[in-house]
Amino acid sequence: MTPNLAINDLPALARAGWTLGERLCTACGGFHRVWGTLRSAGVVGGVEADEAVLLPLLRDLTPDGTRAFIGGSADPGILEILLRAAQGRMLDVTVTDLCPTPLAVIDALVPQPGLTLTTAVLDITDLDVNSGYDLILSHSLLPFLTPPDRHEALVRMRRALAPGGHLVIAARTAAPLSSEEAADHDAAWLSRAWARISASGCDLPGPREAFEPLLGAFAAERPKRLWDLSTPGAIAAMLQAAGLDIVSCQESRATTTLNLAGKVKAKQSYMFVTRDSTLA
Ligand SMILES: C[S@@+](CC[C@H](N)C(=O)[O-])C[C@H]1O[C@@H](n2cnc3c(N)ncnc32)[C@H](O)[C@@H]1O
Repeated sequence: MTPNLAINDLPALARAGWTLGERLCTACGGFHRVWGTLRSAGVVGGVEADEAVLLPLLRDLTPDGTRAFIGGSADPGILEILLRAAQGRMLDVTVTDLCPTPLAVIDALVPQPGLTLTTAVLDITDLDVNSGYDLILSHSLLPFLTPPDRHEALVRMRRALAPGGHLVIAARTAAPLSSEEAADHDAAWLSRAWARISASGCDLPGPREAFEPLLGAFAAERPKRLWDLSTPGAIAAMLQAAGLDIVSCQESRATTTLNLAGKVKAKQSYMFVTRDSTLA
């Protein structure tokens, strides 16, 4: 694909994910084929949901020449925020994900001023770098991992920090669903998703009969990512157990709510800036 995608053109990014994902999405089950449309229609809280907190925070962590690593990136959103925060300063950024689709979308972007970009398919639990990055960003990745893998990923990201480097983790508090809530989940989530897609006026990136089963699969996978970390303190304890010192923790936004079994379920987002406690 010619690198001609604008980093802010959400409908075009959604179409690219849909098309590229047909060939490239495998283990994710088509997550990245529908993700762009869900982000564009405001069904999922992409990175922009945390922009107000992330932008000023990243502005201070991106001096000229910063070597940055993004661990898990469903689309170019995190890269875009990082570039905006850097305000034209030179950045050397490595973007990784388990699935090649979002990386192919990122590779198809119009070249960005000041950016040296590398993309790489990587399971974050295999990250094997020592002291390589001044800044590591992980946005909503950890719920995709089992508890032992989360620990492993955090330890590996910590080891990949250069002296004085920072690991920024965006994570949401969530609670697992009761059996009653779980029974309601898929239908409630899908009904909200379709309502938002219609209200947004976004065109589907392909035929509805191809999009619909992938959206159903997306809904069905979602409860697996509702971890048992229901307070910022519980998330902080997980980070500290991996040898990270918490430099700051800022509350960001509550994500959109879902009514399940007569109860309102919401997730609250937090931005943690951490550093390697073993180097302190
Ligand atoms: C919810 S998305 C990230 C959302 C984030 N807000 C964004 O805008 O990119 C989580 C991403 O982590 C990726 N992922 C899941 N497990 C992974 C792993 N073990 N290693 C690397 N990436 C992984 C998924 O493919 C997905 O793209």
